[in-house]
Amino acid sequence: MSLFYVKPNGPLRGTVTASGSKNAVLPIMCACLLTDEICEIYSVPPLLDVYVLKEIMESMGVWVQFDEKNEVMKIHAKRISSSDAKHTLWEKIRASFLVAGPVCARTGKVKVPFPGGCKIGSRPVDLHIKGFENMGMKIRQEFGFIEIKGRKLKGTEIYLDFPSVGATENLMMAAVLCEGATVIENAASEPEIVDLAKFLNKMGASVTGAGSTKIVIKGVESLHGAKHRVIPDRIEVGTFMAAAAVTRGDVTIKNVCFEHIRPAAAKIEESGVIVEESGKSIRINAEREVRSFDIKTLPFPGFPTDMQAIFMSILSTAKGTGMITETVFENRFMHVAELKKMGADIKTDGRTAVVEGVKKLSGAKVRATDLRAGAALIVSALAAEGDTEIGDIYHIERGYCDIDKKLMMLGAEIEKRD
Ligand code: UD1
Repeated sequence: MSLFYVKPNGPLRGTVTASGSKNAVLPIMCACLLTDEICEIYSVPPLLDVYVLKEIMESMGVWVQFDEKNEVMKIHAKRISSSDAKHTLWEKIRASFLVAGPVCARTGKVKVPFPGGCKIGSRPVDLHIKGFENMGMKIRQEFGFIEIKGRKLKGTEIYLDFPSVGATENLMMAAVLCEGATVIENAASEPEIVDLAKFLNKMGASVTGAGSTKIVIKGVESLHGAKHRVIPDRIEVGTFMAAAAVTRGDVTIKNVCFEHIRPAAAKIEESGVIVEESGKSIRINAEREVRSFDIKTLPFPGFPTDMQAIFMSILSTAKGTGMITETVFENRFMHVAELKKMGADIKTDGRTAVVEGVKKLSGAKVRATDLRAGAALIVSALAAEGDTEIGDIYHIERGYCDIDKKLMMLGAEIEKRD
């Protein structure tokens, strides 16, 4: 099992470039299943979740070519067959369930195992299923599989009980080939939803309202191939922002869409850190005192749950007391126990954590319990006293490509040991 070995090496300084967004590219890859023509995606991050989804799509007879060096992926779903991939492959990632909407829309049926992903809550797929049923699909759930059938899908009105990112994406993709119009109310408005809608429209779909809470999809007869560049990964950007803040460094991050990171930038600024926006770059200067702040995670444009653990690392050594309320997932404080091993002063009660800033954390042997929890440990280790050994880093590699190398370019000392 690989691990990261981190030695503190002072404030991070320099320039780093963010990759394409993991959470945007996965649904876009799935959208390619909606056409029998070739699609080309640029700025595809070579990370584990992308490879898992590629393998799942290949197991369905889809041709996928990934030029990792240039980060270009070509997908040709000329025909789609039922997958012969093992259950365990599907269970590796949550986004595996996003093939359901497009495949059913294209072929009239799909049978997929229940999805996996980080164990940060019960993560049901009931909202996806309710929406599919509204469109006239028939659902059967047995033996660990979800079977969806729907030859003649009809446009309909869907109200989501919660603005679920995955359900909005799956239902948008299912609706593009429906007869008539589909309206999704209380839809998620994350930047990744907007990116998916842009790609679908390039394929010939008619999607309006993405980015708001009401999305209207007018069904079309068929879709064609399209080319698209994926948006920057706002969570990776947030990770570098936190790394700069924790080490009291001065870091410029390139390939940033400021609108997407505004909630995180607002918190960083509240802490006294200077955030300078300049086109597609931001500079984070944390050479002054870093003060505590409060966070409440919410659907976009609220503070992202995916940055909660990473920003807890900032609070761990900030001046004063900060409170974090996690409203999106019910089990997203697993990193607390690991941060405490490093000397953090954190108390949790249900969905709330109170973080009392300490002068310094200390290096320890810790474990990445999920993807962003792992990133939080790396960030904390950069400024701890002594060395930190982080185990189970496959979680981190699911969502970051070359995080060790990128941080090393900023002066960090990180070694990956197999
Ligand atoms: C996506 C992101 C993930 C991020 C999350 C919230 C991807 C691949 N993953 O996950 O990184 O943390 O958005 O921003 O894009 N829920 C239900 N029933 C459903 C669906 C969701 O109850 O059918 C609940 C979930 O349990 C959770 C909340 O809704 O409590 C939000 O989940 P959702 O927005 O669907 O997240 P994902 O799409 O799984």
